[in-house]
This record gives sequence, structure tokens and C-alpha cells, in this order.
Amino acid sequence: MNAEQLELLATAEAAASHSYSPYSKFAVGAAIRWSDGAVNSGTNVENLSYGLTLCAERSAVVAGVGSGQRKWQEIAIWVAAEQLAYPCGACLQVLNEFADENCHVILGGKGQEPVLKLLTDFLPNPFTADLG
Ligand code: THU
Repeated sequence: MNAEQLELLATAEAAASHSYSPYSKFAVGAAIRWSDGAVNSGTNVENLSYGLTLCAERSAVVAGVGSGQRKWQEIAIWVAAEQLAYPCGACLQVLNEFADENCHVILGGKGQEPVLKLLTDFLPNPFTADLG
């Protein structure tokens, strides 16, 4: 884990402080570094209609894609609890859509030793289709 990755995790932690999670009370923050070096953050946004909840990771992705980003290199995910949270299946598929080569996933939580993984650790065989 290098200093830049720890800094990305600190940005994810700051984003978790904006979490809108009145139902689960489970605050998550994410910070994504795009291949040009720009960073976007996001948090989980829940809804009274529970299924409409948006995870922190997808919030961070849409913030960047909406400003023109298409390829990411690293994402940090912070949970405001004494545990780590691995990205859910829906987020993995969305992250895969915009993944550059050799994408890193940095995980952190209160009092937890940060963990460094690869996107391919979680999604070794992503869905692909030739729609041409
Ligand atoms: N959540 C995330 O933001 N990211 C994940 O990877 C897993 C779950 C959120 C969704 C919901 O607001 C809360 O955590 C509890 O599931």
C-alpha cells in the first residue's frame, strides 16, 4: 500500500461522513482515481423505497463518468464501522465497465488494517457479450 493509496482511502473516509443511510445506518464512502489522475468520491444514498439505494462505489463512478471520465485505476472503499466491506456484485459489474488494466481496490474501516486487492480478485470472469 503506497502513500497515494492511503490518501485515496482518506478521501473515501471523508465521503462516508456525507452518507445518507437513515435505514441501514451503514455509512460507506468511496474514492475513485481515474487513469488521468483525477479523483471523484461518492457515498451511499438510501431511499425509503429500499431497492433504489445507490452504493458508494457507483456514486463515485457516476460522478466521474458525468464529467467525461471513462477509465479508472484505483478505488478506495471506506466503511464507518469496525469492519471492511467488499464491493457488491452490482458495483463490481459497473466498475468493470470502466476498468483500466490492473485496477486496484483498497479497503478500509474503523480500526482495520487497510487491505489492497485487485478488481480481478473479486470478478475474475466478468460478463462480456458481443452485441455487434
Ligand atoms: N453499500 C455500499 O455503499 N457499498 C457496498 O459495497 C455494499 C453496501 C451500502 C448500501 C446500503 O446503503 C448499505 O451499504 C447497507 O447495505
